[in-house]
Amino acid sequence: MGSTSLPTTMKALVTPSQGAPAEVRDNVSLPEPSPTQVLVRTLYAAINPVDVFTTQMGLLVESWPFVPGCEASGIVVKAGNEARNALGGYFKKGDIVAGCARLGVEGHGTFAEYFLLDAEVALPKPDSLTAAQASTVAVGALTAFLGVFGELGISIEGLEEGKGEGEGKWVIVFGGAGAVGRYAVQTLKLAGYKVVASCSAGSVELLKSLGADATIDYKKSADDIVEEVKRITEEKVDLAFDAVSVNNDLVTKIFTAIPSSSGRRLYTTTNDWDPAPDASLGFTTKPIELGPLGRPSAAELNSKLTSWIPVVYRLLESGKLKVGGYSVEGEGIDGIPKAWEAQKSGRLGSKKVIAKLADE
Ligand SMILES: NC(=O)c1ccc[n+]([C@@H]2O[C@H](COP(=O)([O-])OP(=O)(O)OC[C@H]3O[C@@H](n4cnc5c(N)ncnc54)[C@H](OP(=O)(O)O)[C@@H]3O)[C@@H](O)[C@H]2O)c1
Repeated sequence: MGSTSLPTTMKALVTPSQGAPAEVRDNVSLPEPSPTQVLVRTLYAAINPVDVFTTQMGLLVESWPFVPGCEASGIVVKAGNEARNALGGYFKKGDIVAGCARLGVEGHGTFAEYFLLDAEVALPKPDSLTAAQASTVAVGALTAFLGVFGELGISIEGLEEGKGEGEGKWVIVFGGAGAVGRYAVQTLKLAGYKVVASCSAGSVELLKSLGADATIDYKKSADDIVEEVKRITEEKVDLAFDAVSVNNDLVTKIFTAIPSSSGRRLYTTTNDWDPAPDASLGFTTKPIELGPLGRPSAAELNSKLTSWIPVVYRLLESGKLKVGGYSVEGEGIDGIPKAWEAQKSGRLGSKKVIAKLADE
């Protein structure tokens, strides 16, 4: 470790207490990385739906005042002496890194000039990506991998060689255009599945470009969607991935209307707060939980992510996983509230909203 040129305080967006408006402060203490962490100078901070859950509902927040933000890219300015990355090397000063920071833990909030990342779950930036693009990947890709390879139990073997286990079986992805959904669609395609994804009319071309075999307009009635799923899949679909957290009722209707073709139905969802559909309905629901990432108490989660990050890295590097569009909606810490409002408005559709905090 060791750097002489770092300041002792930094500028950050701070939420003083649960539900209180965020305010810019310029005297927040610079965090100190543990031996297995890196301190990162933020280049781009991405805004996520969960930032509202932490600041408004206190989700996973350990103490207030609290610096929100959980996804970013930046430059390593200080590395712990055991900061081994998922690719097998050690992070060093000057590396460009991206990833999800621990949610709700002091020193990890990315709406700040500097933040901490746990080395084992950080994403070294592939050369093929800009730092801005890299800031948009981790929440979506890691959540998709957790859903596909964790909760749906699909094998990752053969994924990179195009020899996945899917055998052309159908899977439904609800919300294929979102940050999580786009990686779920691409990952399931790489694993050899046929994907029918729900999206709005404006996202159909995007979904096709990501490999979706069919799309369904989520603005149609539930009955119409059930009929379309029946027709498209020829009534053979046993896996579903809800990437936008609002489809428990719809999946229940679909799985009730179509008999199982394998006798084993699985539904995974990013909704880990509402009660899951009752197992007596004939399918098992497995909620995805990325939230505890990085925490020592989440050793099993961390170790799964560490094993998958090299795959994500190589797929990004080779272009087999395509990153999404983004829009820089704010500059500097003072610009984050504007970017956050843009994200909350939904007016940028499937583009990830980011704020630029510093030049490389
Ligand atoms: N449990 C976890 O560990 C975990 C992890 C990550 C995210 N999440 C949650 O997952 C959800 C999605 O996150 P995200 O970052 O992917 O969101 P996002 O990128 O903001 O999602 C935006 C997209 O959602 C689509 N959409 C909106 N309503 C829809 C509906 N009824 N059906 C289908 N698509 C719909 C829109 O598609 P169109 O553009 O086509 O209209 C839009 O592009 C959030 O609630 C987030 O909090 C949970």
